[in-house]
This record gives sequence, C-alpha cells and structure tokens, in this order.
Amino acid sequence: MKKLWGGRFQKTPEKWVDEFGASISFDQHLVAEDITGSLAHAAMLKKCGILTAEEELKIREGLNTLLQKAEEGTLEFSVDYEDIHLNIEKMLIDEIGPLGGKLHTGRSRNDQVATDMHLYLKNHVGHIIELIEAFQSALIEKAEANVETILPGYTHLQRAQPISFAHHLLAYFWMLERDKERFQDSMKRINKSPLGCGALAGTTFPIDRDYSAELLGFDAIYENSLDGVSDRDFILEFLSNSSMLMMHLSRFSEEIILWCSQEFKFIELDDTYATGSSMMPQKKNPDMAELIRGKTGRVYGDMMGLFTIMKGLPLAYNKDLQEDKEGMFDTVKTVEGSLQIFTGMIQTMTVNKDVMKQATKQDFSNATELADYLAKKGMPFREAHEVVGKLVYTCIERGIYLSDMPIGEFQQASTLFEEDIYTVLDPYYAVEKRMSAGGTGFKQVKQALEKAKACVAAGVC
Ligand code: ARG
Repeated sequence: MKKLWGGRFQKTPEKWVDEFGASISFDQHLVAEDITGSLAHAAMLKKCGILTAEEELKIREGLNTLLQKAEEGTLEFSVDYEDIHLNIEKMLIDEIGPLGGKLHTGRSRNDQVATDMHLYLKNHVGHIIELIEAFQSALIEKAEANVETILPGYTHLQRAQPISFAHHLLAYFWMLERDKERFQDSMKRINKSPLGCGALAGTTFPIDRDYSAELLGFDAIYENSLDGVSDRDFILEFLSNSSMLMMHLSRFSEEIILWCSQEFKFIELDDTYATGSSMMPQKKNPDMAELIRGKTGRVYGDMMGLFTIMKGLPLAYNKDLQEDKEGMFDTVKTVEGSLQIFTGMIQTMTVNKDVMKQATKQDFSNATELADYLAKKGMPFREAHEVVGKLVYTCIERGIYLSDMPIGEFQQASTLFEEDIYTVLDPYYAVEKRMSAGGTGFKQVKQALEKAKACVAAGVC
C-alpha cells in the first residue's frame, strides 16, 4: 500500500509493523476534533490567499461530508493510513480529488495532533466541570436534609466527636470545589492553539495563526513552535487534576462502603446502585463505590505513564508522544463515569438517622465536652483532660457510658461538676455548641450550606 508520505521510500513495511505503528484504533476518537481543526486551517489558508475561495469551498464541503459520516458512524478507518490525520486526508482526496492534498499546506501532523487534543480536552474538561457541579448539588441536597442528623466523627477510625452529617457531606463539597477550581484554571493552558507550529519550526507560508486560533475558539496561540508541538503538560495537568479528584472520590467511596456494612449501617444504598452475590443470597454489595475506589488506581497509572513517557524526550516531536492518547481517553471516561455514578448513588441513598444518632450515644465522643466544661470553669485544660480520662476509664471498667454515671461520682472527681453536665454530655448539645468558624455547629452548617449554594449558583466561589 503506497503511503501518503511514501515518496522517498523504496519499500513498504510489513503489515504487522504498520499495525504496531498505527494509532487509528484509538485516535479515531479524535475524528470530530480533527475535522474541525482542518476546517479552521482551510479557512485560514483562504484568508491568507494560500487557497482560492473556490478551493476552500470544495475542501470545506468535503470535510463537512466526512464530519456528517463521522457522526453517523459510517466512516471506515484503515490501519494502512496509520492515524486519524492521514485517514481523513485520504478520505478527503477520495471525496473531492487531488485538491484534498492541498489541505496539508503549511501544517504538519505534529501541530495537527496537538490541536486535536487541545480541542478534545477543552470539551471534556468543560463537561467534567459540569458533572462536578451536579455532584456538588446532590451533596447540598442531602446535606440540607441532614443538618441535624448527628453521627460520630472519627479520627484514626475511632469515634472522636459527634458531628452533623451535613457537615461531613459538605467536607466533600469543598474538596470538589477545589478540584473544580483546578480544572477551571487549567482551561487557561488548554485554551491555546498549537495549529501552525508546523512540524517543529513554523512554515514559510504566510499563515495567520491567530485567525485559525480564533476560529477554533482558542484564547491565544503557543508562542514557540517547538514548545507547541512537543509538550504535553496540558494533558499531564489534566491527569494530575483528575488524580486528585479521584483520590477524593475514592476516600468518599471508602466511607460509603464502611457505612453500608452491617457493622455501621449508617446508610443504605438504593438497589439500583448495588449488586448481589451469585452465591450468597443475602448479599447487597456496594460495587459502584468499590469500582470508583479501584478505578482511582488506573487514573494514577495514566498520569504516571505519561510523566514517564515525557521525561527523556528531546525536542521536538517524537513518536513516543503517540502514547499520550489512550491514558487521556481512559481518564476522561473514568472521571466522567465516576462522577455520574457517584451523583446518583448519593441522591438515592437512604440515611439511617436513628442508627447514626444511637452511635453517638454509645461511645465516649462526648468526653471532650466534659473536659471543656471543666476548663470553662477555670481548670487548666491539661488537668481537665486527666480528670475526664480517669472518669472514662472507670466507665469502661464498669461497662457504662459517661451519661450513666451518677452526679456524686462526678463531684468526687471534681467539685466543679454540677447537674448541668448531663446536658453537656448530650451529643446534640455537643454539636450545637461547636460554633467556631468552619465548625459543625448547626447554625454554622446552615451558613456553610448557604455559601455552598451561592458558589454553585455563581459557578465560582
Ligand atoms: N499519530 C501521531 C501521534 O499520535 C500523529 C503525529 C505523527 N507525526 C509524525 N511525524 N509521525 O502522535
């Protein structure tokens, strides 16, 4: 098979060598971006007098026919033409004749592929930002219904202090907010056009890169042609931002998995987001949360893969760069899917408010309250900590909780104790009183909810 670049060659590679070198099996995902880039390139060539208006019209019509076929899924790609760029060029020549070969004037596949990937990420990062916002809205909705739902807060996975469930959910809201900011900020760098950088050094044709950039909706052009065709930092940034986001989703998944275990029973997942076991009829497994936790690993892998590909590459383009795509596609698919699934899982889960509340009563997570009580009455906190620690020990020995202890025994430990300690020991009271900024007090949480809603409505915080 004669290659589009075959002029200086005497022999053609074996089929299996072609197959090894080809990227068409995966870069066909870029078909719409590739054609869009070509349409802008052709319009620019016309504006600069490099193509006549008639030539550009024919090329445009040909490309639009291909775009339509791409949308219908009727284009047939071939390994013989290696990648998406050469496949489309060949199809255009088949469609409109040798004039199709003029399209490649003043550009190279190197700036073409970089342009395609900028266009691709621009669309998908925009979509990911929308999906994050939808997820945040689901968190707000669940949080609003659970401001006064209290559960134990944990450190070291040991019950620590009671908190509002809304406060817990909003913690993820703010993590996701920072993830969103990172994606938003990365748009500045994604939104640059490498088109017209040529193979590496620009071109002798009098092209207008600003014009094609503008047609493609880019804010600016790459200042340096070598940089424009050879860096993939915009993809690496996307993969790092995605890794961070997935890390957050993975931690949340871990909590979901724990919460719906028999040991916790804090929530129940809707049947539509759970699966059964082929052997054990009683099972209801949180597979979706487990999968998101698992898929976090592949996103980290995609990021590490590309960092490793890039680290030794001399300027400018090297074929190694063809390996940048599968990881990017994989991460886009994983992140988009994970966000969608997680949103539905949160919206449909049942919160077992009573179980959560009960859990705050059967522990010592009110011990800090007692120490604070003494400290407020003038005892140095360190001393108060010691007094309460001893009381906790006594309770454990007797198999009771602090609120079961008679007042006389409290007063034996310290004369500062009065009857009102039983109010202080109530976990509801403990949560309500944590009114410091960013704390779990109900009023604080309501304010935080208002702020969160305003952020979602404005698209920024
Ligand atoms: N398929 C190639 C890639 O994905 C396109 C660029 C090829 N350029 C070249 N000079 N071989 O990176």
